[in-house]
Amino acid sequence: MFKIIRISPSIIATDYKNEDNLKSTLRTLEKAGCQLVHLDVMDGKFVKNITFDEKLVDFIKGQTTMLLDVHLMVEHPEEEVDKYIKAGADILTVHYENTPNLAEVLKYIRSKNVLAGVAISPSTPVIKIKDILAEDLADVVIVMGVRPGATGQTFIPGSAEKVAEVRELNKNVFISIDGGVNLKNAKILRKLGANILVSGKTIFASKNIKKTVKALKGRPFIRGIYSL
Ligand code: DX5
Ligand code: ZN
Repeated sequence: MFKIIRISPSIIATDYKNEDNLKSTLRTLEKAGCQLVHLDVMDGKFVKNITFDEKLVDFIKGQTTMLLDVHLMVEHPEEEVDKYIKAGADILTVHYENTPNLAEVLKYIRSKNVLAGVAISPSTPVIKIKDILAEDLADVVIVMGVRPGATGQTFIPGSAEKVAEVRELNKNVFISIDGGVNLKNAKILRKLGANILVSGKTIFASKNIKKTVKALKGRPFIRGIYSL
């Protein structure tokens, strides 16, 4: 059994507002072997920036066979999830910090046959989602490597240890590391237990996207103590 890393490129690091550019970006990512595309929804309230909403998610669904990895950085996500489920999210992630009824929201997302994710910001210790992990209520945990809100920030070093902590508490959950991932820290993040590397700047600022995706992915490795 091999552990395979998936790369989830974040389109906010490209000009997604230009339809032609967006379409050609999706083709490029498919050709580079990406199975996921990361969609950062920001509402200008939970975070300062505003990106896009379910309308763009719906449009992208019609344009690609990649799975849509939707990361909701919005206030009251429990009131928003339905729109994104309808728009075609394959993974739908809400933040621990602003989701009072986290277990219920995760259960609801799963009941719609969508993978349920919980994201933890740099200020949130892993212990806060201990029960969620113990009860296997999440399919994906996004460990943020930067403060949510923008692409192109520097990786906060303590985030790597948080990947290891989540892995310690749950051997099966998909761990996604989001923000500040680059060609230098990718290897250790893979080793510590991450399954999905989200990447904006590293991929889209590179000259050869295919090569960069391949380098971030690394070679499949023997799973060792991990079950994924
Ligand atoms: C940050 C977003 C990330 C970010 C990744 O709020 O969730 O997905 O755009 O971009 P890079 O890889 O440039 O940090
Ligand atoms: Zn994200």
